[in-house]
Amino acid sequence: MKRTSLLLIFAALMIAGCGTHQQSITDSAGRQADLVERLWWIMLAVLSTIFVAVVAFLSSAVYRNRGGSQEIPEPEVRSDEQDRKASHIIIGLTVTVILFEFAFLVASATGTKYVRGYESKNPIEVRVIGHRWWWEFIYSDAIPSQIVTTANELHVPVGTPILIKTSSQDVIHSFWAPNIAPKRDLIPGYAQSYWIQADKEGIYRGQCAEFCGLQHAHMAFYVVVESPQKYQQWLESQRKAAIDPGEQQKRGLDVFMQSPCVTCHTIRGTQAGGRVGPELTHVASRSFIASGTLKNDRDNLRNWVRNPQTVKPGNQMPAIALSDADLDAVVAYLQSLK
Ligand code: CUA
Repeated sequence: MKRTSLLLIFAALMIAGCGTHQQSITDSAGRQADLVERLWWIMLAVLSTIFVAVVAFLSSAVYRNRGGSQEIPEPEVRSDEQDRKASHIIIGLTVTVILFEFAFLVASATGTKYVRGYESKNPIEVRVIGHRWWWEFIYSDAIPSQIVTTANELHVPVGTPILIKTSSQDVIHSFWAPNIAPKRDLIPGYAQSYWIQADKEGIYRGQCAEFCGLQHAHMAFYVVVESPQKYQQWLESQRKAAIDPGEQQKRGLDVFMQSPCVTCHTIRGTQAGGRVGPELTHVASRSFIASGTLKNDRDNLRNWVRNPQTVKPGNQMPAIALSDADLDAVVAYLQSLK
């Protein structure tokens, strides 16, 4: 009974894992991830074969002794010839295992070298900064006014090499979008760079893969892989300063400027220039808020601003006492920041 329920749980987990490929190493959408996926399938095939062989030997041994006799059997007398044969088999199997391990090592090292050695001239350069508990993405540009800063949603053009430069603001995080590229740890005070390239359009989920505190599980992000034209449009719109608020949203902007919001967030085109929390200049263009935790709609935004501590306890954003009318105004203003 116990074994049956364990098998059922295992099967359920397997099926659950097949539901969506938005965050999966077995549905690679980039050349680095493709390499990892291929290596994974080879290892799975080889190790499964070994596992099946071991279980088969074990079962046959159990099956042979199923008589259940309580008597101690006579010690088996083996000839020297049999002993030699047995030790040859053991040595042969040990050497086989070592050879397989060595082949894995070579494949893994060559793969890593290939992934790291990839490069291109004039790449798109994105700084990825880990914060507790959100992601900051800064698109470099020689002209400072053209630099784009955003959060939790990385846009990249399909089939284009991207140079990712990582760092962390506080503790060790790990940047991992399994469909696109292997994990990279973001270590405070240690800047690193590496290449990624997404070859299939789509929206892929990524996740912090290094335990970084209370809200580690709510530190997700999305990679939007789109055509170069769409990417360019996105970049152009992100470069613009925030639009002037209409009559309706004007009050929201005023509330924002008079509340502590302004000390932590930047909205380009206004006086808000805080660097503690995510930049909000185009917050309404993003699909999620709170680092992939909530869909970016009016109700969620309202709940989040009213008390972020109920959604993500321990995060840096305090609850701010706002009247219902002020809260509605701020939310209306933030929703206008496309
Ligand atoms: Cu950041 Cu876990």
